[in-house]
Amino acid sequence: MQVYRCALLRFLRDGRAVFDQDGLLAVAAVAGKCGRVAAAGPWCELHSRYQGAPVTHWPGRIIAPGFVDLHVHFPQTDVIGSPAAGLLPWLENYTFPHESRFADGNYAASVAQVFLDELLRNGVTTALAFATSHPASVDALMGEAAARRLRLVAGKVLQDRNSPDGVRDETEQSLRDTETLIGRWHGNGRLGYAITPRFAPSCSAAQLRGAGELAARYPDVWIQSHVAENKDEIRWARELFPDARSYLSIYDDFGLMRERAIYAHCIHFDDEDRALMRSTGAAAAVSPTSNLFLGSGFFDYEGADRVGFQYGLASDVGGGTSFSPFHTMLAAYYVGREGQTKPGVSLSPQALWWQHTAGAARALGLEGVIGNLQPGCEADFVVLNPQATPLLARKTAQAGSLDELLFALIVLGDDRVIERTVIA
Ligand code: GUN
Ligand code: ZN
Repeated sequence: MQVYRCALLRFLRDGRAVFDQDGLLAVAAVAGKCGRVAAAGPWCELHSRYQGAPVTHWPGRIIAPGFVDLHVHFPQTDVIGSPAAGLLPWLENYTFPHESRFADGNYAASVAQVFLDELLRNGVTTALAFATSHPASVDALMGEAAARRLRLVAGKVLQDRNSPDGVRDETEQSLRDTETLIGRWHGNGRLGYAITPRFAPSCSAAQLRGAGELAARYPDVWIQSHVAENKDEIRWARELFPDARSYLSIYDDFGLMRERAIYAHCIHFDDEDRALMRSTGAAAAVSPTSNLFLGSGFFDYEGADRVGFQYGLASDVGGGTSFSPFHTMLAAYYVGREGQTKPGVSLSPQALWWQHTAGAARALGLEGVIGNLQPGCEADFVVLNPQATPLLARKTAQAGSLDELLFALIVLGDDRVIERTVIA
């Protein structure tokens, strides 16, 4: 048993945050297994249970759940900050040419190391990640994640049309490769596999159908894709699938909407789309820095809450501009303020933080497993330094409530706040 004494942030099932100024986190370590939270709460109530256990004391610091990035592209680590008029020219001019390099497994492994180091430096302990269309890119990322004992979910991108040489795959082979990779990686230690159609415009009907068949055969495998991000993209998807009711319903028509299906962006939705998200149990990966950078639009928090579908926060690097969850939470706040007609509960600092931890975990179907520090959770956590910069030290010292403290960290924080990241 390892006991930590420190301020402690965790979440109740309803999303409300609990903060213990003088907290105790007890982690039970079992040889060869993932360490789990045995107890979390006020030091004064719990410490007598752990007499004799070694105590690590971090005065002035805050232990908080590791962040969960619900949508990120590991091969786009070096694509961050590539300017374009919008999504489609950005894909064509920067992203596809760059992703073609990941056919080389050694190159993919070198970028995977940088990517995972960047996640950890920023306090992200779980990500749902796109690789590229090359199976070697999945092997590289999974191998590096396993070496770090990370819980990571990733998949080979499916894109058998409207994609240039170098990234385009072949329908039958892409589905065989996906099944092989599921067998190799899904449930291997802490790793999981996600069936990954890039987006409907890059996939033939046959490829989407095959992906849906795999999703039915492997119900606990994840699904990830993009939807309703950009107006030109939507028009194109509708032209390619004229019988579908909407862009989102293309995925439903091919059996790709269910629990554990995560769709990035979900910006330009109507209420039927929102109801389809809710009824199928799919979730949105809200990617605000990407949506602002590529000029895609603004996720409609009010619409999502009114209809009641699940969502969580994501960096969407490299359309997104930062690996830092603080930057993502702040951008989500800006995006949510756009067009807001009444004070939004979803934009409180506690809610934003929840959307990047326990809420994102719930969207993944991993509530009670990651993204929180309640008993039974896997012990992935960060140690935050609220004095990481002079301005943060002043601002957090003046915080009169938990909301004020969290807001100071969201607005002023970045990787400097993450003093350490502890994995299981
Ligand atoms: N749509 C299809 N591919 C991509 C991608 O790589 N990034 C984003 N943001 N949208 C996409
Ligand atoms: Zn994306």
